[in-house]
Amino acid sequence: MKLVTIFGARPQFIKAAPVSRALRAAGLREIIIHTGQHYDDNMSALFFDELELPKPDYHLGVGPGTHGRQTGRMLEKIEAVLLKEKPDRVLVYGDTNSTLAGALAAAKLHIPLAHVEAGLRSFNRAMPEEVNRVLVDHLSDMLMCPSQSAVDNLIREGITLNLHLIGDVMYDAIQYYRSRAGARSKILGALGLVPGKYILATVHRAENSDTPDRLEGIVSALNELARDEPVVFPIHPRTRRQLENAGLLNPPITSSNFKPIEPIGYLDMIRLEDCARMILTDSGGVQKEAYWLGVPCITLRDETEWVETVRSGWNVVAGAGKERILDVARSFLPPAHRPHLYGDGQAATKLVARLLEAEEAKRIG
Ligand code: UD1
Ligand code: UDP
Repeated sequence: MKLVTIFGARPQFIKAAPVSRALRAAGLREIIIHTGQHYDDNMSALFFDELELPKPDYHLGVGPGTHGRQTGRMLEKIEAVLLKEKPDRVLVYGDTNSTLAGALAAAKLHIPLAHVEAGLRSFNRAMPEEVNRVLVDHLSDMLMCPSQSAVDNLIREGITLNLHLIGDVMYDAIQYYRSRAGARSKILGALGLVPGKYILATVHRAENSDTPDRLEGIVSALNELARDEPVVFPIHPRTRRQLENAGLLNPPITSSNFKPIEPIGYLDMIRLEDCARMILTDSGGVQKEAYWLGVPCITLRDETEWVETVRSGWNVVAGAGKERILDVARSFLPPAHRPHLYGDGQAATKLVARLLEAEEAKRIG
């Protein structure tokens, strides 16, 4: 079976790493297309080295743009590669514009399509990711779901066939890399941090980075929290641009305990997460990682797709208003119990088994 994996954004390299390893272990042939949606070294190249992810066979170099332009350019270039490679199946991950372009290109060429992280919903169509998720799920003939709630969301939309509850490949990744991060990462020392005595924050969602009131609310709250303990803030390039335009990174607005840094590699990131006292984020991946690592999480959004983390009491959706964020941060006491969520760390192996079963079913007709 010849598979083509299509990705282009930071979280997708992390999701693809365990799957790529499992595909190789099963002796399957994987061709990788990188759309070039993320292109800075610390948003892309860095991850291939540390995740031991094979270098892409095709790098499309699409880069930034409006949604239409970016997705359209990807679609045209992906189609050309798929026509040349003629794979048996395409694999896409998550909910980015690279996911949508890959799915659309495959569907139009009648190439079977597996969507990894299918069924997630925020029920907020103003989010570009929600539009991508809904469309990609409806184009896919294999839906790899991380949770029962994802399966239920799909069934409610009339997608009832070929749903596979495999767990979350990001859990596979964190299990595999956590101890490596502990052994290799030097980030705590480099930033002068003491385990359990700092806060970690990330912000990149369009609704936050591109809405001045929300961005200012979040940054003011982080600065207020930095009066009491260090706040480490690896900044996505999109957010950095907006913060710089608004002058929000300039002293004396920021205190010396507020540590804005460049985006970091995955091993440094999970090390920082693992040792943080609390995490504030609008990232999907970081919410789950906080949960798995047992770190209380405040979600800087008005809703989340990862509802189980909220139900467990370990994640609180706090929006982007300064006072609400501070109230939650100062009163947050997670419960003693932390139920097991999103699989058993074998999602990638299960995914490959389902792919092989589907191929066999096709062969015997
Ligand atoms: C994208 C995904 C989002 C995902 C996120 C992961 C979409 C619609 N959004 O958002 O779901 O959570 O990736 O991080 O696909 N930029 C750089 N260097 C880079 C990458 C981006 O400078 O290497 C800047 C560019 O100015 C670009 C902006 O960031 O215009 C936004 O990048 P883009 O890939 O369009 O969206 P993200 O915000 O990264
Ligand atoms: N991450 C990273 N370095 C950073 C910020 C995040 O390695 O500076 C990792 C993080 O640990 C998680 C993934 O990137 O595995 C999440 O990606 P992101 O927040 O960009 O996107 P989302 O998950 O919201 O789609």
